Amino acid sequence: MSDSERKNTLTIRDNRTGRDYEVDVLDGDVIRAMDLRKIKVHDTDFGMMAYDPGFTNTAFTTSRITEVKGGKGILEYRGYPIEQLAGQATYLEVAHLILNGELPNGKELDDFVDDVTFHTYVHENVLTILQGFRYDAHAMGMMISTVAALSTFYPEAKQVDDPENRRIQIVRLLAKMPTLAAFAFRHHKGLPYVYPENGLSYTANFLNMLFRIGGREYEPHPALVRALDVLFVLHADHEQNCSTTAMRVIGSSRVDPYSAMAGAMGALYGPLHGGANEAVLRMLTEIGTTDNIPAFMDSVRRGERRLMGFGHRVYKAYDPRATIIKRAADEVFEVTGRSPLLDIALELEKIALQEEYFVKRNLYPNVDFYSGLIYQAMGFPVELFPVLFAIPRTVGWLAQWEEMVVDREQKIARPRQVFRGHPRRDFVPIELR
Ligand code: CMC
Repeated sequence: MSDSERKNTLTIRDNRTGRDYEVDVLDGDVIRAMDLRKIKVHDTDFGMMAYDPGFTNTAFTTSRITEVKGGKGILEYRGYPIEQLAGQATYLEVAHLILNGELPNGKELDDFVDDVTFHTYVHENVLTILQGFRYDAHAMGMMISTVAALSTFYPEAKQVDDPENRRIQIVRLLAKMPTLAAFAFRHHKGLPYVYPENGLSYTANFLNMLFRIGGREYEPHPALVRALDVLFVLHADHEQNCSTTAMRVIGSSRVDPYSAMAGAMGALYGPLHGGANEAVLRMLTEIGTTDNIPAFMDSVRRGERRLMGFGHRVYKAYDPRATIIKRAADEVFEVTGRSPLLDIALELEKIALQEEYFVKRNLYPNVDFYSGLIYQAMGFPVELFPVLFAIPRTVGWLAQWEEMVVDREQKIARPRQVFRGHPRRDFVPIELR
């Protein structure tokens, strides 16, 4: 076809009627779902829709924040490759980038860090809420509830159309998530809460609130603080995943960001998403020794189990985050000693990268495969793993929420369904059923 004949449109032939329809092609290879609506057999028909369970081939939004090129294993925040950010930037620097679109200069970063540090305290009544949880409550359940409860402490957060109001709630959530997580952990342990220490960095302060005992100085090893920062950078955003979509969907009703984020956290908690890091560690513990790997892999091949920490909807190559995490794991193990579960993980990966079942399905390690081993080596209990995903993902959720709120093309999320239920029928009184 010559250039002059080439058009940025798609012609669709409806073989039910023999009619042709021409629809515009946008952004390279996207059509508007609403353009399908004009395809009808009768004028009174509703029109054509696309059926897409799990949104596997539906762009729900445009976005300028994060790009995942799944076939090539590339992840970029605002255009910057994840490898460069993880190697050279702090989490709060990356958070500023994700929220504002550009890397901060020195003054902007200082102001942002000050702002976040200033808001790390939570209202004392939040402690009363935590007291209501059983001693063995899962940290993620406590987090979801307390984040939702924050909406009642900041009722002005309802004013989602006010940019300054949005900004302050974003800073509050970024600042308070580590505090809430540490308090949930201390509740679980029955330990008194350690309040934020504002002279410390974001990650050092978090570790201090978690692990400090009594008046004794707690000095986390700098390599561990840095490793946690790297993990936070890797988890900061991942475009339209399950929890981010939940954030956008809930936020599209114009509810406050605390309520929307509690919903997003619920989505993250599931074992197929952010709960996978916890599931990986439980799986490795259950396998126990490398001798048990063949039987375990047999059950995966039979479809009875999933190899947790493997596979991804978008990546059909090695998840770039997993490569960085694997390197970070070595650095952490130098300080903490090697995890005995590492051998099992390495052997599982070796088998999976060679075996037809996994190769055919493009199943590679994802971000969750090695992160749990690091968290465990650093002393985090397994129930805290999804929380360690939620804290850094807060910035991604909020940046995506902000983008959605100001996007003039967005509307309340309200998908369609293909109804396959009973057609109309008349009510039958109970004595006649
Ligand atoms: N172990 C064994 N088989 C798998 C796995 C796995 N981890 N993942 C996918 N498959 C198989 C699946 O059974 C299916 O096989 P078949 O075609 O024979 O039915 C095929 O691969 C395609 O799987 P799918 O479920 O259609 O793929 P999906 O894109 O809907 O699911 C996933 C993506 C991440 C939910 C899935 O790979 C999975 O369950 N992985 C394990 C959980 C996990 O590690 N989640 C963390 C994801 S990364 C962190 C995050 O951002 O959430």
